[in-house]
Amino acid sequence: MAGKVIVCRCEDVTQSDLDHAVALGYSHLEEAKRYTGLGTGPCQGKECMVACALYLALAAGRPPSEVRPFTSRPPVAAIALGTLAGPDDPGEGGG
Ligand code: FES
Repeated sequence: MAGKVIVCRCEDVTQSDLDHAVALGYSHLEEAKRYTGLGTGPCQGKECMVACALYLALAAGRPPSEVRPFTSRPPVAAIALGTLAGPDDPGEGGG
């Protein structure tokens, strides 16, 4: 196929990147995620996980029924940075 096929828009992972991962033996979704960074962008794989998982299964010659989603990590929803920082520390620079 001519041209670049983007499979994960958040992290600019291409079909060629997945083929390379499979050629190196990283044919499971979690392995390919760690090797290429797919699914680690702002959407956390909501846009790319299914297509990438199916492509990896096809490329590795495994049935799609064996595909497992990768592990979700918190936070699963966007939150304000201030929420993680906690309340203001009154002893710091407050006089
Ligand atoms: S499209 Fe892959 S992480 Fe968003």
